[in-house]
Amino acid sequence: MKTTLLSNRWPGARRLPWIGLAEAPTPVERLDALGARVGAELWIKRDDLTHPRYGGNKVRKLEYLLGEALAQEANAVITTGAAGSHHALATALFGRTHGLEVHAVLFPQRYSSHAEAHLKALRLTGAEVHPTRSAALAVPGASALSARLRLSRRRPFVIPPGGSSPTGVLGYVEAGLELGRQTESGVLDEPDVVVAPFGTGGTVAGLAVGLAAAGLTCPVVGVRVVPRSVANRPLVGRLIRRAVGALRSLDARFPDVADDARRLVQLDHDEYGKGYGEPTSEGRNASRLAREHAGLTLDPTYTAKAFAALLRLARGPYAGRRLLYLHTLSHAAPPGVEHAPPLPPELRRLLKR
Ligand SMILES: Cc1ncc(COP(=O)(O)O)c(C=O)c1O
Repeated sequence: MKTTLLSNRWPGARRLPWIGLAEAPTPVERLDALGARVGAELWIKRDDLTHPRYGGNKVRKLEYLLGEALAQEANAVITTGAAGSHHALATALFGRTHGLEVHAVLFPQRYSSHAEAHLKALRLTGAEVHPTRSAALAVPGASALSARLRLSRRRPFVIPPGGSSPTGVLGYVEAGLELGRQTESGVLDEPDVVVAPFGTGGTVAGLAVGLAAAGLTCPVVGVRVVPRSVANRPLVGRLIRRAVGALRSLDARFPDVADDARRLVQLDHDEYGKGYGEPTSEGRNASRLAREHAGLTLDPTYTAKAFAALLRLARGPYAGRRLLYLHTLSHAAPPGVEHAPPLPPELRRLLKR
């Protein structure tokens, strides 16, 4: 049976419900051409390859989240996100293959062909899409839907936005431990800094816990792509504390790294631009360089902004140093989208022109 670094090292963590989805360890590779161009040692951790059908950062979180849903004998999962949510699509793809009914409560976002493709692919999975008028209504909408499903004798499990509950965060604790193992075995030397997008915060929070537990001390720069009101230090601190608390209650030998992990996290606010999903010229430029010099495809909402920060740091404070970028976007296009029918009007309205 496939096991995790967490449960191998801290046997109490074997009690955590978990389903194996991710192809791990994901490779780390050196981006020589781009590094030479910007004057730093650039590396990438390929979490775009976590699953052949649909990769990206949601796969690791869903190993624990869907594990918990199944352990609670749920038969439906409900989650929320923007219209083109990667998280909603990943939840639907992997939830459906594990026999779960999937509901996605979605709020409007700016139109992009990328977001449209994700919404079309989400419908193809058989997930039920519930449009809401604004982001603020999505979580209450999910709670109300959960109550309605219970009344009709369904057993729903609610996954928070982006899968960033203390349970979802554990997927990235595992990724941090994995990176620790990769530095230990000499695949790469410890980076001077790790850079990743910061949306709901679970990826960066978990990574910081995993790195701290592995004894690494490199800062983790979370590049904020959502409003400050939902992405801030108190939020990341809470996620870290609760994830470490959960692990220590399962296995008292898990180190109390909450303060160390909090100190590792730095938030970068300089790539946000005009808003969530609003492309920036720095992001466009970063996408072009990533494509031409590293063969990478980025999305405008998350990875273009994180990559722009990576290049800025590599040319500035980290010139000549070793930077590692965590690539969180699926390498695979949303499955089946080329044959998807057009969106009905109520879903088309979720993508604002
Ligand atoms: C491609 C991609 N990168 C990064 C993130 C942000 O991860 P987190 O929500 O854990 O901060 C997301 C979240 O939706 C994403 O889809």
